[in-house]
Amino acid sequence: MTEATPLARYAVIGNPVAHSRSPQIHAMFSEQTGKPLRYERLLAPVDGFADAVAAFVAGGGVGLNVTVPFKRDAYALAADHLSARARLAGAVNTLSWRDGAWHGCNTDGVGLVSDLIRLGLRLAGANVLLVGAGGAARGVMQPLAQAGCARIHIVNRTASKALELADAWRETGVSPETVVTAGGLADAALPQGWNLVINATASGLQDAAPDLPRGLYAPGAAAYDMMYGAKPTAFMKQAEADGAALTADGLGMLVGQAAESFLIWHGVRPDPAPVLAALREALAAGH
Ligand code: ATR
Repeated sequence: MTEATPLARYAVIGNPVAHSRSPQIHAMFSEQTGKPLRYERLLAPVDGFADAVAAFVAGGGVGLNVTVPFKRDAYALAADHLSARARLAGAVNTLSWRDGAWHGCNTDGVGLVSDLIRLGLRLAGANVLLVGAGGAARGVMQPLAQAGCARIHIVNRTASKALELADAWRETGVSPETVVTAGGLADAALPQGWNLVINATASGLQDAAPDLPRGLYAPGAAAYDMMYGAKPTAFMKQAEADGAALTADGLGMLVGQAAESFLIWHGVRPDPAPVLAALREALAAGH
């Protein structure tokens, strides 16, 4: 009699991590694609990322999704094997153990762009207002620029951080045809309005919207909040009141980044649509 091969082991690592929906998402992808796997939650002490990851590998772990506050630690851990996406994002959310080393990628931005496409938005030639200048904003610059946006204007409560992000971005030399500018929240207006406004701030954590001027939206424009919840976020409500034709939260981005991680690990890109529908239903039911 032969012993069953142990399932390949994956996990999401964070602190806190109990709220993470990644195990559900990857279980649904596994069922959909027929790729068997084991996917857990890994709570690591804030100063204990490297030790927790080492113990995970020793226990047969081969892949990690990385969430708050460890995306920079993951970047450092995989410093010798970073994808271009990870380098440009300055953070890693997907670690793969291959040939005795961790390889780092960042799928957040691709997850966002795939969700924007799902929503029917046209990014080629679009004028995009990106609100926020932290890791979340930096992580989506490359996929947005490479999707052909004509302009990305970064605004932030602390204007200097937006200016720094724009400068750092221009220095990369990536997609120079996309004009990247920056300012404070009060500098968010564009005479003809924006085609897309993305909230990459943490304001939603306080159930608040960033303090933006009104009149931001061009006819038919969309608003996208990287945060999500059971109900429309404060930013989505603000956008609707300001004339946005379409508002969306970041649940689709979450599923999209997971689908890209799944592709990296298993070589198959799952269909995010049924998983997104199931999660939306669970959220609405309070699960
Ligand atoms: P993340 O990695 O999620 O981007 P971060 O690096 O801490 O987290 O960045 C948080 C972002 O949300 C910043 O752009 C922050 O603005 P400041 O740089 O001025 O701090 C922004 N932010 C947080 N709370 C906000 C609020 N209530 N209104 C507007 N912006 C807010």
